[in-house]
Amino acid sequence: ATHKIGYFVGSLASGSINRTLSKALIKLAPEDLEFTEIRIKDLPLYSYDYDADFPPEGRALKEAIEGSDGILFVSPEYNRSIPGALKNAIDWGSRPWGTNSFSRKPTGIIGASPGGIGTAVMQSSMRSVLSFLDAPQLNAPEAYIKFKADVFGADGDVRDESTAKFLRHYMEEYCAFVQRVLAANAPGHI
Ligand code: FNR
Repeated sequence: ATHKIGYFVGSLASGSINRTLSKALIKLAPEDLEFTEIRIKDLPLYSYDYDADFPPEGRALKEAIEGSDGILFVSPEYNRSIPGALKNAIDWGSRPWGTNSFSRKPTGIIGASPGGIGTAVMQSSMRSVLSFLDAPQLNAPEAYIKFKADVFGADGDVRDESTAKFLRHYMEEYCAFVQRVLAANAPGHI
């Protein structure tokens, strides 16, 4: 069966290395995953003042999350945490109260940095947020990508076989995880 994956790129930068990583992941993913980006750049900054009359951008975001079988976050680390634009999008998706769109959605978190930490601290912050939002997360493998321009082509080709193998494995494990959570969420499953 085909599974619909909504993916977030946590960077608004035109030359985003995480956008490049997302292209590589899509190319290397199992064929039964179908990817649609959930865009975050046009969202206003969230406030609960919007809850009474949720704007179209917020509704579209929630519908995109709810219509996905799984969610993948491909994000940089900013100041050892989640980039503000991505956190804002997550806040939108979690509200109005009682309509948290992330509830029970299988999620994966991956990110690239030029530095050796490879977004590990951002991912740790994301795990707290997604746990609070009741979103199951792929726990292993973890993927902290040190981005090298000679390895990742702008169109998503990966020129180093061991990196390609690792990312392919990550996406296979992510796919299997999404399938397990979907099965567990199905009506009738104990
Ligand atoms: C960074 N960068 C960064 N890198 C990192 O590994 N840990 C960090 O905490 C930070 N902090 C940070 C804050 C801010 C405001 C910026 C703009 C950058 C560097 C960052 O990894 C680098 O700019 C990447 O290119 C960001 O990913 P995108 O936007 O290219 O996908």
